[in-house]
Amino acid sequence: MKSFEGRMIYITGGSSGIGLEMGRIFAAEGAGLLLLARKAEKLDNAARSMEKVRRSREQKIGALSVDVSDIADVEQKMGIALKQYGPPDVLVCSAGINKWADRFENITYAMFDEVIKTNLYGPRNMIHTLMPAMKERRGHIVILSSAAGLFGMFGYTAYGTSKAGLIGFADSLRYEIRPMGMKLTIVCPPEVDTPMNIDEAKTLPEEGRAVKSLAGMLTPEFAARAIVKAIAREQYLCIPDFQTRFLYLLHRLTNGIATRMTSDAVIKMTQRKMGK
Ligand SMILES: NC(=O)c1ccc[n+]([C@@H]2O[C@H](COP(=O)([O-])OP(=O)(O)OC[C@H]3O[C@@H](n4cnc5c(N)ncnc54)[C@H](OP(=O)(O)O)[C@@H]3O)[C@@H](O)[C@H]2O)c1
Repeated sequence: MKSFEGRMIYITGGSSGIGLEMGRIFAAEGAGLLLLARKAEKLDNAARSMEKVRRSREQKIGALSVDVSDIADVEQKMGIALKQYGPPDVLVCSAGINKWADRFENITYAMFDEVIKTNLYGPRNMIHTLMPAMKERRGHIVILSSAAGLFGMFGYTAYGTSKAGLIGFADSLRYEIRPMGMKLTIVCPPEVDTPMNIDEAKTLPEEGRAVKSLAGMLTPEFAARAIVKAIAREQYLCIPDFQTRFLYLLHRLTNGIATRMTSDAVIKMTQRKMGK
């Protein structure tokens, strides 16, 4: 897919952060857009901001409230969406949460469940519901995983599980959809400066913060541009920045030893500073 002009693109999490930035780029390139998230007011503001950058009046730009973790809601709302906007050429699954980034012993069953239902079942629900319609258009599925799906992280037992799960899901799904002419891109960014980090900061232990600061922080614009480029090139794995690509290579080449040793050392130093 070289150009997005005239394509229909659905974006979950399109009201904020990376999804919102991707929407702006697609709108400027002439694509039709359907932004999906739970809070209607944020969605409407996001859709209005797309109207300012869209290329022509012909582009359909809309917003629809849906909870991706709720399969009944997804099936009902996607029924409406397909009738109003037509099937998506590109489905971007960006909706996600990073609540309860904490030591595992502090994470209750309900907290763990909320993260998995949103981050792992969310894309599962959207893709399963829209796949029959997308098949006919040889559509492109884009899933936002994370660098936290590639490497373990202190305080990330729930979030990391959901993001690593998405990589396993995508690796298997790719084999099934390729013969149908469909495409898949799995995205693994490091930290990106979005509202998500406000929730995370409420509970993330100091050790997690210290390890995270080893990797860089991207702007949402940089991450969104890199992801859109990867979709246009029909790239499977997209790690937007050089630093994370290098860390991942090192991780693979040393069978995880280099990343584990570095993280262990940083955790030890941080705990010593904390007087533990
Ligand atoms: N920011 C980072 O550091 C980072 C790094 C790597 C990967 N990622 C991944 O990138 C994706 C986007 O993150 P972001 O940083 O752009 O986050 P964000 O700014 O917090 O945006 C999250 C979006 O998801 C929506 N959302 C959350 N739960 C939902 C649900 N149950 N149903 C429907 N929509 C829901 C939110 O809207 P409502 O609350 O209104 O529903 C919002 O539009 C996530 O999957 C995240 O895990 C982020």
